[in-house]
Amino acid sequence: MSEEIKAAAQAALGRLEALSGKAGADRVRGLDVRAGTITLVLAPPGAEDDAAALRSAVENTLGAIEGVARVRVIFEAERSAAPSRAKAPKPAAPVQPPARVIIAVGSGKGGVGKSTIAANLAGACARLGLKTGLADADIYGPSAPRLFGLTDAPGLRKTDAGIQPLTAHGVKLVSMGFLVGERDPVIWRGPMVTGAIRQFLTEVDWAGGEGPLDVLIIDMPPGTGDAQLAIAQGIPITGAVIVSTPQTIALDDAKKAMALFERTAIPVLGMVENMSFFLCPHCGEGTEIFGRGGARAEAELMGIPFLGEIPLHPSLREASDAGRLVALEDGPLAGAFERAARAMLETAETANRPAPEIVFEG
Ligand SMILES: Nc1ncnc2c1ncn2[C@@H]1O[C@H](COP(=O)(O)OP(=O)(O)OP(=O)(O)O)[C@@H](O)[C@H]1O
Ligand SMILES: [Mg+2]
Repeated sequence: MSEEIKAAAQAALGRLEALSGKAGADRVRGLDVRAGTITLVLAPPGAEDDAAALRSAVENTLGAIEGVARVRVIFEAERSAAPSRAKAPKPAAPVQPPARVIIAVGSGKGGVGKSTIAANLAGACARLGLKTGLADADIYGPSAPRLFGLTDAPGLRKTDAGIQPLTAHGVKLVSMGFLVGERDPVIWRGPMVTGAIRQFLTEVDWAGGEGPLDVLIIDMPPGTGDAQLAIAQGIPITGAVIVSTPQTIALDDAKKAMALFERTAIPVLGMVENMSFFLCPHCGEGTEIFGRGGARAEAELMGIPFLGEIPLHPSLREASDAGRLVALEDGPLAGAFERAARAMLETAETANRPAPEIVFEG
């Protein structure tokens, strides 16, 4: 069915005036059809183009095809006009996937501790001896610079091999937060954040001459819109981890995040419950503020693995603000992150696409 839709879409695009002819032919950069959703990636619109009109023309045309429930039009972002060297541009996208296992950490709702969990899961993986990377893909609220103590980092360099990640706490890192300074050599222009995110994820030199990473964790932006879809479709994600807090309202949003990944054929590896209970820093006793086990029960109901619970603890916020990872320290929080990371890696191993070969000791 998807193949038929794709053929029909190609034919329809060929008839569309704005995209046909010599000038339009190389505008289409990608066409993907999955579960009734067409995603069309177009070259950045030129100054003379009416991007909104082009988008709606494409949406109307493709939306009329039988079997199409949804049309997504993504414009690639324009890159900085200033080339770093006077050389013919090389294809920057790496041919092999950046990591043997790529895990997206998502949540439908903002503020549930997704970035904190993503950073500490990455720390726990590094502690297990795995070559680990973290991509902070939240363009509006990047957290990695703060979580890894790199708020004064100089920005990212780009070499012929690609964008060079920074390293902190044994984790290779890129963040939109490293790109926003005026002096930064890597700058994308224009409002097409989805294209920017996609390029950002595919042009990083994760290997750095040492071969692919074992694990790459992507801290997804909150929500389930275009940016999330662009990431989901822009990089070969092994599976997704959903972070939720125990409240029903957060769990409802977690379901939306799951639906997004399912729509893009990315398996959900499981759910991590954050702020499961309050762990008293004085007496060490746990208090179940929101009622405990909501996420576990919900995960069971939906047939996805429950990967672990992370308590609410002041030291987690303190460490995060100070640029430390509790996963690398001693104590109950580090243990909780290690258990969740192991569970995550185990389910990633059995995820069907691609079949990763992860070996970790201990
Ligand atoms: N288990 C926890 N115990 C104590 N504080 C926590 C815990 N989890 C997260 N926090 C704190 O809650 C705040 C929000 O966390 P974080 O930034 O990770 O959320 P997020 O889901 O990534 O948010 P956003 O939607 O803005 O990206 C931070 O100040 C963080 O330190
Ligand atoms: Mg965040």
